[in-house]
Amino acid sequence: MTITPEKIAPPTKLDELRERTRQAEAGGGPERIKRQHAAGKLTARERIEFLLDEGTFQEFDKFVVHRSRDFELDQQLYPGDGVVTGHGLVDGRRVFVFAQDFTVFGGSLSETHSEKICKVMDLAMKVGAPVVGLNDSGGARIQEGVVSLGGYADIFLRNTLASGVVPQISCIMGPCAGGAVYSPAITDFNVMVKHTSYMFITGPEVIRTVTHEEVTKEELGGADTHNRISGVAHFAADSDEHALQLVRELLSFFPSNNMEDPPRRAATDPAGRSAEQLNTIVPAASNQPYDIRDVINPVVDDCDFFEVHALYAPNIVVGFARLDGRSIGIVANQPAYLAGVLDIDASTKAARFVRFCDCFNIPLIVFEDVPGFLPGVRQEHGGIIRHGAKLLYAFAEATVPKITVITRKAYGGAYCVMASKHIRTDINFAWPTAEIAVMGAEGAVGVLYRRELGEAEDKEAARQTRIKEFQEKFANPFTAAARGFIDEIIEPAETRPKLARALALMENKRDTNPPKKHGNLPL
Ligand code: HXC
Repeated sequence: MTITPEKIAPPTKLDELRERTRQAEAGGGPERIKRQHAAGKLTARERIEFLLDEGTFQEFDKFVVHRSRDFELDQQLYPGDGVVTGHGLVDGRRVFVFAQDFTVFGGSLSETHSEKICKVMDLAMKVGAPVVGLNDSGGARIQEGVVSLGGYADIFLRNTLASGVVPQISCIMGPCAGGAVYSPAITDFNVMVKHTSYMFITGPEVIRTVTHEEVTKEELGGADTHNRISGVAHFAADSDEHALQLVRELLSFFPSNNMEDPPRRAATDPAGRSAEQLNTIVPAASNQPYDIRDVINPVVDDCDFFEVHALYAPNIVVGFARLDGRSIGIVANQPAYLAGVLDIDASTKAARFVRFCDCFNIPLIVFEDVPGFLPGVRQEHGGIIRHGAKLLYAFAEATVPKITVITRKAYGGAYCVMASKHIRTDINFAWPTAEIAVMGAEGAVGVLYRRELGEAEDKEAARQTRIKEFQEKFANPFTAAARGFIDEIIEPAETRPKLARALALMENKRDTNPPKKHGNLPL
């Protein structure tokens, strides 16, 4: 067929589109892009390319420009206005994305920049797909004043409304300061890039003036600080590429929205595979440590455990894995660190993780070896009561399938908290090495027999007799099993097949909470 000239767009219009597209994709120009690369950072477009499946990015609002007329800004119009927005695919599944472009006004947020972000967030909610934000910004566009602050608030509102509806992930890949940090703070996971990203409410200069403290940007709000100390960030990536790879992996465990189940993968690792090494993993002496990851790894598919928040509160381990191809969220006390005790940080870390899994229909598997809550003035004055209550509340509130395996200690309040039968856990397993009691034998004997032991002729012999008696009664899973608080005492080697069967059983679990506006989680 011959194409007549009037059927194709006039060359001038096509040329104009191509030229304008070229300009829009040029960001802040070659010099600024060079500086971005020299700082070890990818550009906004390069980041999006890396994050999404090849050739799937669909951009919106490429030609949006700001509306400022003050401070000679009308002379500086960059199409796109410092943020690249749109959607594409990650492993074939739809994801919305925005990437701030530091080469245009330092990625600062103007009214129109905010409108672009809000548009993709609104669409993500409408179609039920995750939002990934790639943050690299000098904060509110100073020249726009309150209009820019309003733009931030518009985003915060959407972060809040989208919470629990679609997964939200923030990557911090440059500065993130002032109130701007509150968008990532509301999202589900924060990935920070080491040495090139930082988050703080006020920078080192202001701190020096107000509190006379000397601190560097890195110490104050670098990736290491927020991963280890504050717990604001969940991952510390070595580079932009590493951060984006982590996001892709994280997304693979999630459903696209709260109305879907997580995708199930075809598993090559047999569900019935036993792991003999687990039969001897718990040391004979109950105060000896072992690494709970040595329990998790052989239980999950292909020994592939994707740990989250690994550097923060290492006395509890949380993360995602698959079992017989099903996504699971794992919460496990870590006897190798502080004996796996529950303190403030461990409680808040695990509570948030549990609530994420519950939002997005990801079954929870709990490995329990916990001597209790951490005693001490600092913990009490720091509010261990209300922080510990968060974890209790989160497990009790969760309606996803919940399965617990007690490997060793389940003492005191921590027994109740760590997904005990009493707070609607579906299946509770215990290993023969489980010890379920109000407290450890030594502590219990000290409380109950202080007077008797004080009067005994051979105090130590009397103490040991009482300890032995106490251990026989409580340092085992049989008393709890006799009550039905434990459904089955299993051979450790059989943990994987038992969990796989329990997950299959729970596949169509339906449970609800009483109708209410929302609960009042202790904060
Ligand atoms: C407008 C900005 C900007 C901003 C940077 N730029 N921040 N333009 N508004 N907030 C511009 C710079 O003028 C410069 O333009 C370019 O971006 C790159 O900035 P540099 O300073 O050259 O880069 P660098 O040395 O890497 O320093 C980056 C920086 C610094 C640390 C982010 O720019 C900075 O301190 N910016 C101000 C940060 C800030 O205080 N923001 C307000 C936070 S309060 P040219 O044309 O030279 O390339 C806030 C409130 C949010 O955000 C409230 C929400 C509720």
